[in-house]
Amino acid sequence: MRLTLNTGPGKAAGIYTGSTVFQELNAFLGNLSPGPDSIFILTDKQSRSCCLEVLTCAVSSLLAAEVLEIPAGEKNKSLKSAEHLWNILAFKGASRRSLLINLGGGVITDLGGFVASTFKRGVPFIHIPTSLLGMVDAAIGGKTGINLGDIKNQIGTFQNPEAIFISTGFLGTLDSYELLSGFAEIIKIALVADICLWKKLGSIRLQDLLKMKPDKEIWEDLISASVAIKCRIVEQDFREKNLREILNFGHTIGHAFESLSLQTNRNPLSHGHAIALGMICESYLSVMKSGLDSGDRDAIIRMIFPDYEYYPLHRKDLDFMMEFIEYDKKRRSSGACFSLLRSPGNAISGERCEPGEIIESIDFYRALER
Ligand code: GLY
Repeated sequence: MRLTLNTGPGKAAGIYTGSTVFQELNAFLGNLSPGPDSIFILTDKQSRSCCLEVLTCAVSSLLAAEVLEIPAGEKNKSLKSAEHLWNILAFKGASRRSLLINLGGGVITDLGGFVASTFKRGVPFIHIPTSLLGMVDAAIGGKTGINLGDIKNQIGTFQNPEAIFISTGFLGTLDSYELLSGFAEIIKIALVADICLWKKLGSIRLQDLLKMKPDKEIWEDLISASVAIKCRIVEQDFREKNLREILNFGHTIGHAFESLSLQTNRNPLSHGHAIALGMICESYLSVMKSGLDSGDRDAIIRMIFPDYEYYPLHRKDLDFMMEFIEYDKKRRSSGACFSLLRSPGNAISGERCEPGEIIESIDFYRALER
């Protein structure tokens, strides 16, 4: 299946999914005119060991590509890694006629997209996401970036890849922790923009889905639906001036959960798990501020629990989270605003919430402990 992300003249990216995705990649590489003078594959240690051989067996022209490997993990989405990669590209003689293939999760596609879009003012790149989160969110929509110290995605560009190739086969390399992390972004995209997908999710038992083989049609359907919805939003607001902000539903409080959990002596939460908990709080705020029905809020909670574990919060954690949210607000372009739901499938951005309201929403979450 081929979708197109169209973000302006000359800016269309083909997004390929389905069982023939590597044939599509073969054809794509063969049709490049002029062909690339060199091909680089950026990956991390984990994706290299699980996914690179699958890729090069299916697309033999990539056997000759130069592999650039970085260690796995968010801390490598840094200026230091970018500089390291620019140096290697320069040393290896990369030019604007080279091609960078980003094979990995969100760290690789964000970092690789950033390195490619800035090196010599722009080298073509393609994404081959290997995590569910990458397939449904990070690799889609043309955001590239690195972190500035502990501030996420503070430096970056908006630049679409030439194409994105999504092979659900790579889901077989992920454990349920990683699958759940990506699944939270599927829940989010349904809640902000597509009632049909939300209803479909309601008919799926997540525990059954997690046990299903990656070649089951349901995975393909969920991923294609999420990608199509995200493309619909991004096409209308590529540079996130307004509409695209709805994709931040669950993220304001979710990032506070994530940051709290990354403190020493805590259990780190995956990004998606933190966003799932953030969506519970922000659904509460949606009832209060944007007219979400409390029955729909309860349905959202039932979708999240018990598959995502409850994360206990102590009173002092609330202070940490509130400080984080205040601090985070100042450095975000959208300021103090939340993206909230009017109803499942219908969201608005730019909603101001007072500190007392945010605390109430976190207290609501705390009361769900059983
Ligand atoms: N991950 C949110 C966005 O792409 O806008």
